[in-house]
Amino acid sequence: MKILKKYFYTKQFGDVLGFNAGVSLSGPPPITAWCFLLDDVLIDAGIRHLREPFIHYLEDHRPSLLLITHFHEDHSGNAAVIKDKFGTQVYGHPETARKLKHSFKIRAYQHLAWGKSDPIEIQHAPTLIHGKNHTFRAIHTPGHSRDHTVYLEESKGWLFSGDLFVGKKIKFFRSDECLGDQIQSLKNILNYDFDDLFCAHRPTMGTGKEVIRNKLDFLVNFYGSVKDLHDKGISTKGIIRRLDPANDRFIKWVTLNNACFANMVRSALKLAVKETASDLNI
Ligand SMILES: [Fe+2]
Repeated sequence: MKILKKYFYTKQFGDVLGFNAGVSLSGPPPITAWCFLLDDVLIDAGIRHLREPFIHYLEDHRPSLLLITHFHEDHSGNAAVIKDKFGTQVYGHPETARKLKHSFKIRAYQHLAWGKSDPIEIQHAPTLIHGKNHTFRAIHTPGHSRDHTVYLEESKGWLFSGDLFVGKKIKFFRSDECLGDQIQSLKNILNYDFDDLFCAHRPTMGTGKEVIRNKLDFLVNFYGSVKDLHDKGISTKGIIRRLDPANDRFIKWVTLNNACFANMVRSALKLAVKETASDLNI
Protein backbone atom coordinates (compact mmCIF):
# COMPACT_ATOMS: atom_id res chain seq x y z
CA MET A 1 0.00 0.00 0.00
CA LYS A 2 1.70 3.12 -1.27
CA ILE A 3 -0.20 5.59 0.96
CA LEU A 4 1.37 4.06 4.06
CA LYS A 5 4.42 5.62 5.62
CA LYS A 6 6.77 2.77 6.51
CA TYR A 7 8.95 2.67 9.57
CA PHE A 8 11.80 0.20 10.18
CA TYR A 9 14.86 0.30 12.38
CA THR A 10 17.22 -2.02 14.21
CA LYS A 11 18.47 -1.79 17.77
CA GLN A 12 21.10 -3.82 19.59
CA PHE A 13 20.06 -5.15 23.04
CA GLY A 14 23.47 -6.52 24.09
CA ASP A 15 23.94 -9.68 22.00
CA VAL A 16 20.37 -9.58 20.72
CA LEU A 17 19.55 -7.63 17.58
CA GLY A 18 16.01 -6.21 17.51
CA PHE A 19 14.04 -5.25 14.40
CA ASN A 20 11.18 -2.82 14.86
CA ALA A 21 8.58 -2.18 12.17
CA GLY A 22 5.27 -0.42 11.74
CA VAL A 23 3.26 1.76 9.38
CA SER A 24 1.24 4.94 9.66
CA LEU A 25 -0.87 7.25 7.53
CA SER A 26 0.93 10.24 9.02
CA GLY A 27 3.35 10.72 11.92
CA PRO A 28 4.83 7.86 13.92
CA PRO A 29 3.06 4.47 13.77
CA PRO A 30 0.45 3.97 16.53
CA ILE A 31 1.86 0.48 17.14
CA THR A 32 4.99 -1.34 16.02
CA ALA A 33 6.16 -4.96 16.25
CA TRP A 34 9.57 -6.26 17.25
CA CYS A 35 11.31 -9.45 16.31
CA PHE A 36 14.74 -10.51 17.53
CA LEU A 37 17.86 -12.21 16.20
CA LEU A 38 20.34 -14.00 18.42
CA ASP A 39 23.23 -15.41 16.37
CA ASP A 40 21.53 -17.88 14.01
CA VAL A 41 18.14 -17.85 15.74
CA LEU A 42 15.33 -15.48 14.81
CA ILE A 43 12.34 -15.07 17.11
CA ASP A 44 9.23 -14.07 15.16
CA ALA A 45 9.15 -13.11 11.51
CA GLY A 46 8.21 -9.43 11.23
CA ILE A 47 5.35 -7.79 9.35
CA ARG A 48 4.61 -8.19 5.67
CA HIS A 49 4.48 -4.44 4.98
CA LEU A 50 8.18 -4.13 5.89
CA ARG A 51 9.28 -7.34 4.19
CA GLU A 52 11.77 -5.72 1.83
CA PRO A 53 14.14 -4.00 4.31
CA PHE A 54 13.81 -6.86 6.79
CA ILE A 55 14.73 -9.62 4.34
CA HIS A 56 17.49 -7.43 2.94
CA TYR A 57 18.91 -7.08 6.45
CA LEU A 58 18.65 -10.83 7.11
CA GLU A 59 20.75 -11.60 4.02
CA ASP A 60 23.84 -10.80 6.11
CA HIS A 61 22.67 -13.13 8.92
CA ARG A 62 20.83 -16.03 7.23
CA PRO A 63 19.04 -17.46 10.31
CA SER A 64 19.08 -21.25 10.53
CA LEU A 65 16.18 -21.34 13.04
CA LEU A 66 12.99 -19.30 13.32
CA LEU A 67 10.86 -19.61 16.46
CA ILE A 68 7.30 -18.32 16.13
CA THR A 69 5.53 -17.17 19.30
CA HIS A 70 2.02 -17.30 17.79
CA PHE A 71 0.27 -17.21 14.46
CA HIS A 72 -0.83 -13.53 14.47
CA GLU A 73 0.23 -11.73 11.29
CA ASP A 74 2.55 -9.29 13.10
CA HIS A 75 4.60 -12.31 14.26
CA SER A 76 4.38 -14.66 11.28
CA GLY A 77 4.27 -12.15 8.38
CA ASN A 78 7.53 -13.14 6.66
CA ALA A 79 7.98 -16.71 7.92
CA ALA A 80 7.28 -18.38 4.56
CA VAL A 81 9.72 -16.11 2.68
CA ILE A 82 12.44 -16.60 5.31
CA LYS A 83 12.04 -20.38 5.11
CA ASP A 84 12.19 -20.38 1.30
CA LYS A 85 15.02 -17.90 0.94
CA PHE A 86 17.39 -19.06 3.68
CA GLY A 87 16.33 -22.72 4.20
CA THR A 88 15.46 -21.76 7.79
CA GLN A 89 13.87 -24.43 10.03
CA VAL A 90 10.69 -22.92 11.47
CA TYR A 91 9.26 -24.04 14.83
CA GLY A 92 6.09 -23.22 16.74
CA HIS A 93 3.31 -24.75 18.82
CA PRO A 94 1.24 -27.46 17.04
CA GLU A 95 -1.72 -25.04 17.03
CA THR A 96 0.51 -22.39 15.37
CA ALA A 97 1.44 -25.00 12.75
CA ARG A 98 -2.24 -25.78 12.16
CA LYS A 99 -3.18 -22.10 11.77
CA LEU A 100 -0.26 -21.22 9.47
CA LYS A 101 -0.67 -24.21 7.17
CA HIS A 102 -3.46 -22.41 5.32
CA SER A 103 -4.19 -18.79 4.64
CA PHE A 104 -6.23 -17.29 7.48
CA LYS A 105 -8.59 -14.34 7.31
CA ILE A 106 -7.60 -11.04 8.84
CA ARG A 107 -9.70 -7.92 9.39
CA ALA A 108 -9.38 -4.59 7.55
CA TYR A 109 -7.36 -2.97 10.34
CA GLN A 110 -4.92 -5.92 10.31
CA HIS A 111 -4.45 -5.54 6.56
CA LEU A 112 -3.73 -1.87 7.10
CA ALA A 113 -1.42 -2.22 10.11
CA TRP A 114 0.55 -5.36 9.28
CA GLY A 115 -0.43 -7.15 6.08
CA LYS A 116 -1.25 -10.82 5.55
CA SER A 117 0.99 -13.82 6.31
CA ASP A 118 1.63 -16.39 3.60
CA PRO A 119 0.78 -20.02 4.42
CA ILE A 120 3.72 -22.11 5.62
CA GLU A 121 4.37 -25.61 6.95
CA ILE A 122 6.26 -25.41 10.23
CA GLN A 123 7.61 -28.01 12.65
CA HIS A 124 6.26 -28.61 16.14
CA ALA A 125 8.66 -27.04 18.63
CA PRO A 126 10.34 -29.56 20.96
CA THR A 127 10.75 -28.49 24.62
CA LEU A 128 14.41 -27.59 24.04
CA ILE A 129 15.57 -26.02 20.79
CA HIS A 130 19.31 -25.86 20.16
CA GLY A 131 20.79 -23.03 18.09
CA LYS A 132 24.50 -22.65 17.30
CA ASN A 133 25.34 -20.94 20.61
CA HIS A 134 22.07 -20.86 22.52
CA THR A 135 19.37 -23.23 23.74
CA PHE A 136 15.75 -22.15 24.07
CA ARG A 137 13.01 -23.68 26.20
CA ALA A 138 9.59 -23.51 24.53
CA ILE A 139 6.87 -22.78 27.10
CA HIS A 140 3.21 -22.82 26.08
CA THR A 141 1.51 -19.69 27.44
CA PRO A 142 -2.05 -19.56 26.07
CA GLY A 143 -4.46 -16.69 26.73
CA HIS A 144 -3.57 -13.98 24.22
CA SER A 145 -4.12 -16.76 21.67
CA ARG A 146 -4.52 -20.50 22.10
CA ASP A 147 -1.16 -21.28 20.50
CA HIS A 148 0.89 -18.61 22.28
CA THR A 149 4.38 -19.87 23.19
CA VAL A 150 7.38 -18.09 24.68
CA TYR A 151 11.06 -19.03 24.32
CA LEU A 152 13.42 -18.82 27.27
CA GLU A 153 17.20 -18.66 26.96
CA GLU A 154 17.75 -19.97 30.50
CA SER A 155 21.52 -19.52 30.76
CA LYS A 156 21.12 -15.77 30.01
CA GLY A 157 17.76 -15.05 31.67
CA TRP A 158 16.24 -13.80 28.41
CA LEU A 159 12.57 -14.38 27.77
CA PHE A 160 11.31 -13.92 24.21
CA SER A 161 7.76 -13.30 25.21
CA GLY A 162 5.76 -12.51 22.05
CA ASP A 163 2.51 -10.92 23.26
CA LEU A 164 2.48 -12.43 26.77
CA PHE A 165 3.22 -9.02 28.33
CA VAL A 166 2.53 -6.10 25.92
CA GLY A 167 1.74 -3.74 28.82
CA LYS A 168 1.11 -3.67 32.57
CA LYS A 169 -2.37 -2.19 32.38
CA ILE A 170 -4.27 -3.80 29.56
CA LYS A 171 -7.08 -1.66 28.14
CA PHE A 172 -8.70 -4.12 25.76
CA PHE A 173 -8.90 -7.75 24.61
CA ARG A 174 -9.37 -9.14 21.15
CA SER A 175 -12.54 -11.21 20.90
CA ASP A 176 -10.60 -14.51 21.13
CA GLU A 177 -8.48 -13.69 24.20
CA CYS A 178 -9.00 -15.66 27.41
CA LEU A 179 -8.46 -13.98 30.78
CA GLY A 180 -8.32 -17.24 32.78
CA ASP A 181 -5.60 -18.68 30.54
CA GLN A 182 -3.66 -15.40 30.60
CA ILE A 183 -3.63 -15.36 34.41
CA GLN A 184 -2.52 -19.01 34.49
CA SER A 185 0.23 -18.41 31.90
CA LEU A 186 1.58 -15.36 33.75
CA LYS A 187 1.66 -17.35 37.01
CA ASN A 188 3.40 -20.22 35.25
CA ILE A 189 6.12 -18.07 33.68
CA LEU A 190 6.95 -16.54 37.07
CA ASN A 191 8.23 -20.02 38.08
CA TYR A 192 11.15 -19.51 35.69
CA ASP A 193 14.16 -17.22 36.09
CA PHE A 194 14.59 -14.32 33.69
CA ASP A 195 15.47 -10.62 33.80
CA ASP A 196 15.11 -9.33 30.26
CA LEU A 197 11.79 -9.45 28.51
CA PHE A 198 12.02 -9.39 24.72
CA CYS A 199 8.39 -8.38 24.28
CA ALA A 200 7.16 -7.94 20.71
CA HIS A 201 5.64 -4.54 21.50
CA ARG A 202 7.49 -3.29 24.58
CA PRO A 203 10.94 -4.79 25.22
CA THR A 204 11.79 -4.38 28.90
CA MET A 205 15.36 -4.94 30.02
CA GLY A 206 16.30 -5.86 33.60
CA THR A 207 12.86 -5.78 35.18
CA GLY A 208 11.12 -8.48 33.13
CA LYS A 209 9.86 -10.49 36.07
CA GLU A 210 8.63 -7.42 37.91
CA VAL A 211 6.53 -6.17 35.00
CA ILE A 212 5.05 -9.65 34.46
CA ARG A 213 4.10 -9.68 38.18
CA ASN A 214 2.53 -6.22 37.78
CA LYS A 215 0.46 -7.38 34.85
CA LEU A 216 -0.64 -10.47 36.74
CA ASP A 217 -1.72 -8.31 39.72
CA PHE A 218 -3.60 -5.98 37.40
CA LEU A 219 -5.52 -8.84 35.73
CA VAL A 220 -6.27 -10.59 39.03
CA ASN A 221 -7.62 -7.32 40.50
CA PHE A 222 -9.63 -6.67 37.37
CA TYR A 223 -11.11 -10.16 37.61
CA GLY A 224 -11.94 -9.56 41.29
CA SER A 225 -13.85 -6.36 40.42
CA VAL A 226 -15.87 -8.10 37.70
CA LYS A 227 -16.63 -11.10 39.93
CA ASP A 228 -17.81 -8.85 42.81
CA LEU A 229 -20.28 -7.10 40.54
CA HIS A 230 -21.37 -10.41 39.00
CA ASP A 231 -21.98 -11.88 42.47
CA LYS A 232 -24.15 -8.84 43.27
CA GLY A 233 -26.33 -9.72 40.29
CA ILE A 234 -25.21 -6.84 38.03
CA SER A 235 -25.77 -7.54 34.32
CA THR A 236 -22.92 -7.77 31.79
CA LYS A 237 -23.88 -4.36 30.35
CA GLY A 238 -24.03 -2.90 33.84
CA ILE A 239 -20.56 -4.23 34.72
CA ILE A 240 -19.07 -2.86 31.49
CA ARG A 241 -20.65 0.53 32.19
CA ARG A 242 -19.43 0.65 35.80
CA LEU A 243 -15.83 -0.42 35.14
CA ASP A 244 -15.31 1.15 31.71
CA PRO A 245 -12.14 3.29 31.84
CA ALA A 246 -13.22 4.77 28.45
CA ASN A 247 -9.66 4.57 27.11
CA ASP A 248 -10.29 1.91 24.49
CA ARG A 249 -12.29 4.16 22.15
CA PHE A 250 -9.66 4.63 19.43
CA ILE A 251 -8.75 0.93 19.20
CA LYS A 252 -12.42 -0.06 19.41
CA TRP A 253 -13.22 2.24 16.50
CA VAL A 254 -10.23 1.16 14.38
CA THR A 255 -10.86 -2.55 14.94
CA LEU A 256 -14.65 -2.28 14.55
CA ASN A 257 -15.16 -3.66 18.08
CA ASN A 258 -12.79 -6.64 17.66
CA ALA A 259 -10.50 -5.22 20.35
CA CYS A 260 -12.28 -3.48 23.22
CA PHE A 261 -12.65 -3.26 26.99
CA ALA A 262 -16.02 -5.07 26.87
CA ASN A 263 -14.20 -8.22 25.67
CA MET A 264 -12.11 -8.17 28.85
CA VAL A 265 -15.27 -8.07 30.95
CA ARG A 266 -16.93 -10.86 28.94
CA SER A 267 -13.85 -13.06 29.33
CA ALA A 268 -13.75 -12.36 33.10
CA LEU A 269 -17.44 -13.25 33.35
CA LYS A 270 -16.84 -16.61 31.62
CA LEU A 271 -14.25 -17.36 34.29
CA ALA A 272 -16.56 -16.15 37.09
CA VAL A 273 -19.38 -18.42 35.88
CA LYS A 274 -16.95 -21.36 35.62
CA GLU A 275 -15.65 -20.73 39.16
CA THR A 276 -19.17 -20.43 40.58
CA ALA A 277 -20.08 -23.69 38.85
CA SER A 278 -17.04 -25.47 40.26
CA ASP A 279 -17.78 -24.05 43.78
CA LEU A 280 -21.20 -25.63 43.43
CA ASN A 281 -19.68 -28.84 41.96
CA ILE A 282 -21.80 -28.45 38.84
FE1 LIG B 1 -0.68 -11.18 19.04
